[in-house]
Amino acid sequence: MNWKEKYADKIVSAEYAVSLVQDGDKIIFGDWLGEPPALVETLYDHGMEKHDVTIIHGMSPGSNRCVDPAYAGHFRHVSTFLGPNSRPGYREGTVEYIGGTNFHKWPEMFAVSDILNPHWAFVQVTEPDENGMCSFGVDCSFTEPAVRTAAKGKVVAQINPNFPRIGGKMLHIDDIDYIVCQESPLYTIGRAGVNEKTQKIADYCASLIEDDSTIQLGIGALPDAIARNLMDKKNLGVHSETLTESMMELVEAGVITNSMKTINKGICIGSQLAGSEAFYRYCENNPMFEVHPVDYVNDPYIIGQNYKQVSINACLEIDLKGQANSESIGGIQYSGIGGQLDHVRGAQLSKGGKSILALNSTAKGDTISKIVPFHAHGNIVTVPRYDINYVVTEYGIANLKYKTERQRAEALIAIAHPDFRDELRFEGRKLGVL
Ligand code: COA
Repeated sequence: MNWKEKYADKIVSAEYAVSLVQDGDKIIFGDWLGEPPALVETLYDHGMEKHDVTIIHGMSPGSNRCVDPAYAGHFRHVSTFLGPNSRPGYREGTVEYIGGTNFHKWPEMFAVSDILNPHWAFVQVTEPDENGMCSFGVDCSFTEPAVRTAAKGKVVAQINPNFPRIGGKMLHIDDIDYIVCQESPLYTIGRAGVNEKTQKIADYCASLIEDDSTIQLGIGALPDAIARNLMDKKNLGVHSETLTESMMELVEAGVITNSMKTINKGICIGSQLAGSEAFYRYCENNPMFEVHPVDYVNDPYIIGQNYKQVSINACLEIDLKGQANSESIGGIQYSGIGGQLDHVRGAQLSKGGKSILALNSTAKGDTISKIVPFHAHGNIVTVPRYDINYVVTEYGIANLKYKTERQRAEALIAIAHPDFRDELRFEGRKLGVL
């Protein structure tokens, strides 16, 4: 049988695919904006008929109905990254968070963990090309590894004619067990605006990024503002967990050329896309953009093979010893580690590389300093002081690498909001670092 005949044989309805899930099964969904809406929502529709089904997924852009307490005993929800529609469930106990594993190791975690290795992968892919190859579209990160791991079980793919064909790792029809052909709108995300503070941070960050660097941009408002500020750079390259809208603008402006990259020359390498539909269409069939799984893109040893790799990520808080918290507020998990530490470490393995953590000096209308003497009880250290490099606020740049505790504290106080500097000094003296 050729692949076209097999393809026809594999087509089922979403209801049929979901009816095959047995009580006690574990399912991984394609990550984030690549989640397959037809499969996920149909599974939720039939949730009351299932018992003890574990759902493992990222920041869900869909309804995320599985966290509703009404599904207790039907679904167990394991999240790889908390978003707006899983934070309340986390606090109420209906969401378990996967903490403690760097993103590039998740494929290994899914493969070896009795708790997490899946019976099913529910993914979204493009229509096949003439060779029967489907693209992972906007998300390959742990979506491709989910398919690899669920090879012990079953792979169900929603083939969505809207999904953009992005180069990189592909999925052959032979590796899919059931196909659900259904058109769905694409999941997209918007962009935050730039204000006076973020513009200052972007200016400081731009001063650290040299021509010919390869960049990684994290998520949130700040990395995007920083990218918008790189228009006068030359020959930048991209090796980044997430490919973002600003990269399209930098390619169009001739700033990103990937010509000086030492691996994957000429190509923006990412594991996922996050942006508007116009951005997805720009990357579609565009040989300059490729998506690959996180055990390639986020492996610090791979990242470190790039020359002048610069990682640019946001954090929520940093203490006077240089420990950064990027994922918890008030002792409670807020988002996730994602690939932040992978990229911080990878950048510093790179010849001429740098890691930048950017943050506003304050939150909540200047009432809270984000530079703190010590972290609140229960807060997470995402980037340990052993890995920290540049920290940037609207008041300047602190390079903490190879500094004493006192030098670190002084450098951080110098970039704290002026209203909090005396208090930080007082607390720093009490802690013995000043
Ligand atoms: N104390 C209390 N509240 C704080 C705070 C602090 N220190 N810092 C921020 N907040 C509040 C903000 O006021 C905001 O509240 P609001 O929603 O009520 O306005 C909220 O927390 C979010 O803060 P913001 O700075 O706007 O976050 P962001 O959307 O720009 O995201 C991170 C920043 C750090 C949460 C996000 O980048 C993240 O999760 N990073 C970790 C993973 C990562 O970097 N992945 C990419 C690697 S490839």
